[in-house]
Amino acid sequence: MKVDGKHYRSIWFNRQTGTTQIIDQRWLPHDFVVVDLESRADFAASISDMLVRGAPLIGATAAFAMAAEMKRDPSDANLDAAWEELHETRPTAINLRWALNEMRDLLRPLQESERAQAAHKRALEISEEDVETNRMIGVHGLEIIRRIAAEKKPGEVVNILTHCNAGWLATVDWGTATSPMYHAQLAGIPIHIWVDETRPRNQGALLTSWEMNSHDIPHHLIVDNAGGHLMQKGQVDLVIVGTDRTTAHGDVCNKIGTYLKALAAHDNDVPFYVALPSPTIDWTVKDGLREIPIEERDDNEVTHVQGKLADGSVTSVQISPDGTPGGNPAFDVTPRRLITGLITERGVCEASPEGLAAMFPEHVIR
Ligand code: MRU
Repeated sequence: MKVDGKHYRSIWFNRQTGTTQIIDQRWLPHDFVVVDLESRADFAASISDMLVRGAPLIGATAAFAMAAEMKRDPSDANLDAAWEELHETRPTAINLRWALNEMRDLLRPLQESERAQAAHKRALEISEEDVETNRMIGVHGLEIIRRIAAEKKPGEVVNILTHCNAGWLATVDWGTATSPMYHAQLAGIPIHIWVDETRPRNQGALLTSWEMNSHDIPHHLIVDNAGGHLMQKGQVDLVIVGTDRTTAHGDVCNKIGTYLKALAAHDNDVPFYVALPSPTIDWTVKDGLREIPIEERDDNEVTHVQGKLADGSVTSVQISPDGTPGGNPAFDVTPRRLITGLITERGVCEASPEGLAAMFPEHVIR
């Protein structure tokens, strides 16, 4: 998508430097910083310290990390060590394990001399597949927006609420939840986005707002607590969110606060959709509440906020009294009964074992 009118992806391989490059998302929207990733430590820190974030981008970064590691040392021992270290970086987004397994399963049977090239090729493919997957989520999600526009809001603006950043910055390109929005804009359907600020890290305020600004999509930034009120007032026609892990039975784990939006949407008959690329489905788990590990992050993210000062510098300030500890679960689980539908790259399905099995018959749900 675009930054100041220029096309960017969130991650790419630079042939001149021989490095993987990313946009360091910790400084957006105030500073646009591109960072080179070379060593295993660089890649691991880029994920755990959230220079990159968002489930699909975490997966793509892990794939490029494995490729860089195979160039350095293609041994079995290094393949396993890299898998382990990268897998430890963040616990909830399943795209991480998916991408690491894709790479290991491909590389393990190969001769050591073949691994670097094969790993690089597969990392590039994973990145391209992510772009196409998200484009197709947009194509299918557009039909939902088109239907709501025609049936409920003829000639009026369709109001869409989203939580966190499931935008192009969270993927390689297009985004998941935002792809239907970008497609609606291209189709000339008037939309307006309610952007949840998404405390504690404010991915909505910092990143989704920036994306919407860059693409001239009308939007308002709202505090996390405003969504229910707007739904009661009939000012939300549709919710679209992303996911970090969806179970084979259709429960959705996403950024903390998603569940409360789903409850409010259910109470107000507002359709609640989840944009779901297939690598985000964990076919090994059924019950999201019991089986998905929820990342607990540093309480500093809750007790402090980061922002821009009048002189343009970006800084962090404490908002709570000295000594008050913060609690910081980073994700929650929305039970499938609250979800209207899952927007996948193959089409829209019910959030249920049957819905997912019909959409992805190659996976056996036990
Ligand atoms: O902690 P983050 O910023 O990595 O969390 C991101 C989200 O929760 C997104 O909604 C999810 O990864 C989907 S991104 C397409």
